[in-house]
Parts: sequence; structure tokens; C-alpha cells
Amino acid sequence: NEGSLWGGRFASGPSPELAELSRSTHFDWDLALYDIAGSHAHAKALAAAGYLTADEEQAMHAGLDELAQGVTDGTLRPAASDEDVHGALEQALIAVVGPELGGKLRAGRSRNDQIATLVRMYLLDHSRTIAREILRLVDALVSQAEANPDAIMPGRTHLQHAQPVLLAHHLQAHAWPLVRDLERLRDWSARAAVSPYGGGALAGSTLGLDPQLVAHELGLARPAENSLDGTASRDVVAEFAFITAMIGIDVSRFAEEIILWNTREFGFVTLDDGYSTGSSIMPQKKNPDIAELARGKSGRLIGNLTGLLATLKALPLAYNRDLQEDKEPVFDSVRTLETLLPAFAGMVATMRFHTERMAALAPQGFSLATDVAEWLVKRGVPFRDAHEISGHLVRVCEENGIELHQVTDAQLASVSSQLTPDVREVLSVEGSVASRAGAGGTAPVRVAEQRAELIQRVQSA
Ligand code: ARG
Repeated sequence: NEGSLWGGRFASGPSPELAELSRSTHFDWDLALYDIAGSHAHAKALAAAGYLTADEEQAMHAGLDELAQGVTDGTLRPAASDEDVHGALEQALIAVVGPELGGKLRAGRSRNDQIATLVRMYLLDHSRTIAREILRLVDALVSQAEANPDAIMPGRTHLQHAQPVLLAHHLQAHAWPLVRDLERLRDWSARAAVSPYGGGALAGSTLGLDPQLVAHELGLARPAENSLDGTASRDVVAEFAFITAMIGIDVSRFAEEIILWNTREFGFVTLDDGYSTGSSIMPQKKNPDIAELARGKSGRLIGNLTGLLATLKALPLAYNRDLQEDKEPVFDSVRTLETLLPAFAGMVATMRFHTERMAALAPQGFSLATDVAEWLVKRGVPFRDAHEISGHLVRVCEENGIELHQVTDAQLASVSSQLTPDVREVLSVEGSVASRAGAGGTAPVRVAEQRAELIQRVQSA
């Protein structure tokens, strides 16, 4: 079993079917540079403990640098006979520094503690890329809110007209979950920055290597407290998969609205040509494919999370080969977000809002009925009665095919003597929005304050 990481106790090499099933280089090669970084750190620990001379250590680092160069420029690739990234890199190292020195590196470590460390390093790096892309999307939302500070739109519950709100308030409502996603990534990274290296296969090492040195070299805060836990747990991977799924879901909720807003019936937005697609048969078509892909890919991100959780369920300690199944889903989630978020942010940044149409629709569907009820409350009417009176007024409007601001004095009086003509002071969408000045409300002054707070939170996330 030439070139394998194991074989001494086997009379024959693996069957072709086993080799085919077992091979992971087609996805774990993405970890090659992290594997090499781990080897540099491990070589230092071996040298510090007296297992490599200063010359050997230097030759080892030089050989590893050569491998990293090969990985980066694409000249070093795993061979068909390599089982995984670890074996492929050991073979490559032996080819560069010779079997004597190359054969020393593996002392005191296992693929089990290696892989558990490398996946953390990979995810920590990509969490920074993803955070950067989320920031760009939040920026796009904030810029659109700044560009349309006073635009009013129909606010909805149950997808029905409910109360008028500022477009900026609505856009910022999509930014806050993304800010929390950034904070989730930051919280997660403190738990992720732990190094299982030194845990060996499961029980630790007899060689007296310094795991703190390795953790430090790899930019991780500290070694894992328990070698069984370090090599066998993947909750950090699952938590990352959850955060990516949550980001996907948060984006999908805005995506769904953009798809609706972009219909002829809504007519709230026009998407930039550079961020829209056409049809192969219908010449007139201009489709919101980015938003649809965002909606669709959120399902894929959820699938990656649930698949991983299913792999972990009831898995006994310590390492089991099932754990190899953690990588493909979470790598896919990373790639999915890293391609989706830039396109989505570009679409949002270049979207044009039809604010006149939004404003014209805002009072429709009797969306000022709550304002009428609250106007009555301010005049001493108990809310229960005010609700009844305002509801009755809506019924009169509906029967006469008019909106609230179109009622006559006689119609007001027919509903209730409390409804004097000066109720009209609250029958404008501008007045309604401006009067919702309580904490977190949609009044322009509150929304501007909120935007400043949002920008601050994003900067400290
Ligand atoms: N490829 C494995 C994984 O991704 C790591 C290697 C551990 N293999 C083993 N036979 N113990 O988890």
C-alpha cells in the first residue's frame, strides 16, 4: 500500500471500490493550505520538544513552503491514488524533503485532530469574507434609505394594507437581521477559535508537544480542553451552517418582497438591467432572477444544515468516519453565500423605487383607521368604543366606494357625534407617519435616529 498513511497491518491494499468510496480529495483539497499551515506549526512543536534538529526544522519549513507554492499556483494536485488531502500532502512532502525527514512530521498527530482544526480555520477565514459581503448589503440598504428618507409606502400585515410606513423604515427593517447575523458570526468565531491539534486520534499524545504553541501559530485562541471532544465534536460546524442558513432566510424574505414589488400589479421598483435577466422566447421579459435565486438558495442552505445535524445525531465518541460528511455541505454553504451576496447587494444598490406610486397606494385599504381610533382616544373615548366607531366608519366608506379621507361631514356625523370634521387632521399618510414618533416608530425623525444607530451597530459588529 505504497504512498498510503496506513498499511503495515494489511496484507493487501484497499479494493478499488473502497478507494472510490473513501476518497475525499475532490473536496478536502480546499483545505490544503490550512493543512500546510498546521504542518508548519506542528514542525515547530516537534522541534521545541526535541524531535527535529534546527536544520531538520528549517528543511521541513522550506519543503512545506514549496508545497504551498505548488498548491497556490496549481502545479501540486492530489493524485488519483491519494485518499485525502493529508495523505496527498505527506506524499508531496516526502518527494521534496525525502522519506527520512518527511516521515517524521506525522509524529504525535492524527488526521482526526488535524481535520477538526483545519475545518475551523477554513470557516473562520470564510466567516470574514461572508461578513464583508453582508456589510455591503447593509450599506446598500442604508444608502437606499438615505436616498428616499421621506417616501411613504403601504405597511402590511398578513400581506394586507395595515398602516402607512416610511420606505426607509421598511428597508432598515431588513438591515437589522443582517446586523444580528454579523453579530452571530462574531459570537461564533470566539467559540470556533479553538485548536483540537494535539488531541491525536482521540486520547492525546505521549510526546510532550505544546498544543498552545500550535494554537498560537494557527491564530487560534487556545487548545481544546478535551481531546475526545476536540476530535469528535462538530457543533461549531453546525452552528456555522445555522448562521449561513439564517443569512439565507433573512435575505430570502427581502427577495420575496422584491419579486412582488417588481410585478406590474405592485409596480414599486424597477431593477437595473445589469441585475435582471431576459427570456429565451418572450422578448419583452425582464425577470428578477437574483431575488428568485436568493429565495431558492435559502432552501439549499437549510438543507445543508439539516443534513449535517442528521449526520451528527447519536454519533458515539470519539471520531467516526461519518464526520467526513461535515465538509461538503458547509463548503457548499460558504460558496453559495459568497456568490449570492455580491449579486444581491448589487441588485439592491441599483434598484429604483417608484415612490409616487407607493405613496398613492399607502392610504388605500383604509390604512388610516387606527389613526381615527387613536384620535378619538386622545379625546377621551375608551379605545374599545373608538375601535367600534372607526370600524363603522370603514364600513360606511366601503359601502360608498370611497376612502377614509373622502368622507363627508354628514357621513362622519352619521357614524358618531364624536367624529367631528377636525378628524381630517389625521387623515393624511404624512400626518399618520409623522405621529408614530414613539421608540422604534416610523416617524421620519425616529427613522433617521434609527439609521444612525444601525450604522454604529454595524461598525462595531
Ligand atoms: N477525511 C477525514 C474527515 O474528513 C479525516 C481523516 C480521518 N480518517 C480516519 N480514517 N480516521 O473527517
